[in-house]
Amino acid sequence: MITLKKKFSDSFNFLFNKKALIRVDLNVPIANGKIEDDTRIKKIIPTLKILLEKKASIILITHLGRPNGEWVDDFSLKDLSSELSLILGEEIYFEQKNIYKIDSNYLNNIFKEYKIVLLENIRFYEEEEKNDMTFVKKISSFGDVFINECFSCCHRNHSSIAGIPSYLPSFPGKLLEEEILNLKNLILSSSTGNNIAVLGGAKISTKLNIIDFYAKNYSKVIIGGAMAHTFLLALGNEIGESLHEKKMIKTARDLLSIYGHKLLLPKDVVVTSKKDPSIVVTKTLGEIERNHVIMDIGPQTRMLFYNEIIKAENLLWNGPLGYFEKKPFEAGSYYVLNAIKNNKNKNFFSVAGGGDTISLLKKGGFFNCFSFVSTGGGAFLEFIQRGNSLPGLNSLND
Ligand code: 3PG
Repeated sequence: MITLKKKFSDSFNFLFNKKALIRVDLNVPIANGKIEDDTRIKKIIPTLKILLEKKASIILITHLGRPNGEWVDDFSLKDLSSELSLILGEEIYFEQKNIYKIDSNYLNNIFKEYKIVLLENIRFYEEEEKNDMTFVKKISSFGDVFINECFSCCHRNHSSIAGIPSYLPSFPGKLLEEEILNLKNLILSSSTGNNIAVLGGAKISTKLNIIDFYAKNYSKVIIGGAMAHTFLLALGNEIGESLHEKKMIKTARDLLSIYGHKLLLPKDVVVTSKKDPSIVVTKTLGEIERNHVIMDIGPQTRMLFYNEIIKAENLLWNGPLGYFEKKPFEAGSYYVLNAIKNNKNKNFFSVAGGGDTISLLKKGGFFNCFSFVSTGGGAFLEFIQRGNSLPGLNSLND
């Protein structure tokens, strides 16, 4: 299991009057120009405040979306820059100039007036995703020290994640440290106690290793979301027109035969009909018809899952249990999430993360019920299924 060799506090000796390159993740959901969830922005504020206190000049690097190496206005960081300024209470200089036209002296002039510079979307350069060494050298030349505050991209072998540490003294940020500490605790808790993994979302194929790891190591694995439909189909149930993965039916059957007693699946569901979406009814498994579409777990299942979670000592939550974006299909997830709130075990340790999970928790007001909520999507899944290293973490240790 990975151990970070350096600490955030080790960077403090390098910061006074120095330029610090900080890789953050401002890849936040934006709809119609409005930020829908600012969790990732808020989570980096403590680190930025400490760096300002230590009198560092800050150069922020982030990506937004997947512009594939093209300069795409919709993925510009302009609006995010103003939002970050507001939340931080510090004016930020947004640098839209091409990176190849910037040098250290140019930045020194900006730092006479500003304490923070935000560079334009790093994925506007195709060199970013290629971990191109000429590009890495160029961006590294802007700073004296590098801080990786971007756990959520540590699974990417990109220039601004895994490349820069070859050129600059490099350290983890405060948030990155917290992510590793909490996720390691979760993985290490796996062999003892009453431990439960709640896995939702659409696809078995993207979560196969996690299902396998937690079914092996935890007492129970609760399966919800569209992923459960494939399992129900593998057991011979009618699932109507519900979302499922045909190519994973055999895998689901294999998992059931190895871990059957540990995998908890829905016993009843809330369905609608493609022809008439106004229909919203509860059905037990045997009652599902060919035109039905499963949208959520049913009341009996909610109770079953709730009763398991209320007794848990350690818990991992990844993904929604139903189609929570559409009312009233958030109800199943919310009912079960209440068990986290009501769990009275003294040492109850709960971690959530991955994909849609933050949106689900924020929407239902459950964010603060967890011991820790990871900012990682793909990185969270990769880390918790292996517990070993990711390119961005390895490069910090080299
Ligand atoms: C995320 O949202 O999980 C991170 O920002 C990484 O984004 P990516 O999957 O586009 O690399």
